[in-house]
Amino acid sequence: MQITIAKSAGFCFGVQNAVQKAEDVALKGERAVTLGPIIHNSQVIENLKAKGVDVAEDISEINEQSKVIIRSHGISKEDYNRLMALNAEIVDATCPYVKNIHKIVQEKHDLGYKIIIIGDKEHPEVKGVNGWCENSAIIINSLDDINIQKNFEKVCIVAQTTFNEEKWQEIVCSLIKISKEILIFNTICSATQVRQQEAKELSKKVDAMIVIGGKESSNTKKLYEICRENCPLTIFAETAEDIDLNLFKDVNSIGITAGASTPDYVIKEAVDKINNFNNKQQINIEKEKKKVD
Ligand code: F3S
Repeated sequence: MQITIAKSAGFCFGVQNAVQKAEDVALKGERAVTLGPIIHNSQVIENLKAKGVDVAEDISEINEQSKVIIRSHGISKEDYNRLMALNAEIVDATCPYVKNIHKIVQEKHDLGYKIIIIGDKEHPEVKGVNGWCENSAIIINSLDDINIQKNFEKVCIVAQTTFNEEKWQEIVCSLIKISKEILIFNTICSATQVRQQEAKELSKKVDAMIVIGGKESSNTKKLYEICRENCPLTIFAETAEDIDLNLFKDVNSIGITAGASTPDYVIKEAVDKINNFNNKQQINIEKEKKKVD
């Protein structure tokens, strides 16, 4: 059985940077909190907790003068102000690509453009971005969310960094038809584009695909959707434990990709599990051959 791991599988530089910053704080033995889990991986979170870096789900849980690590998703302007008011010591690990969206949204909103964010309204990154235009954005996640009866005078469109490229294009085309003046910023990050493209190509070539990542991770869910379209035997695994090897008894090739917040060791454990299974299968085949001989 041939195993191919997508080159882009695992941490993107934004997540790598955020995890590194949290680990640096932990190494110094300083007490701190991350605003929301730094990545969707319970082992990494528990490890950080053991070293004094806890998770606050909301600013209301943060005490005055705490050290606060902002994760790569970024936060709203209002939340920054609330942290300042608490005299918090901020370690800002917002991904620069996300910061760039904050800047665009604030600038264009001030110039009178209606902001449209193409993304998932429940995702923390999207909530944060919306907070840079006074929470006034229209958030569109699919063609169904577009009200074709409505016409826009001046709109500025941005995307959630991990949005699906093809869906983005469809939605933008549809919005062009109902807008008079339109500014379009394709803010899907290149790391996501490369990862999605690679997943698409790999899933076309293999008999089975394994997509590894947190169940809450939206970019992993998108990778799963993309792979599933091309390869019916695609499974979503949070860790190696979720991989049911029985599914792969009759396959000759497996492709593996992983979301932006999947640590390398999780990918390695999955690969090791398949390799062990593969080796055992080979041994069984050899034994069967010998019996026939
Ligand atoms: Fe940044 Fe792109 Fe990762 S926006 S956090 S590098 S997926």
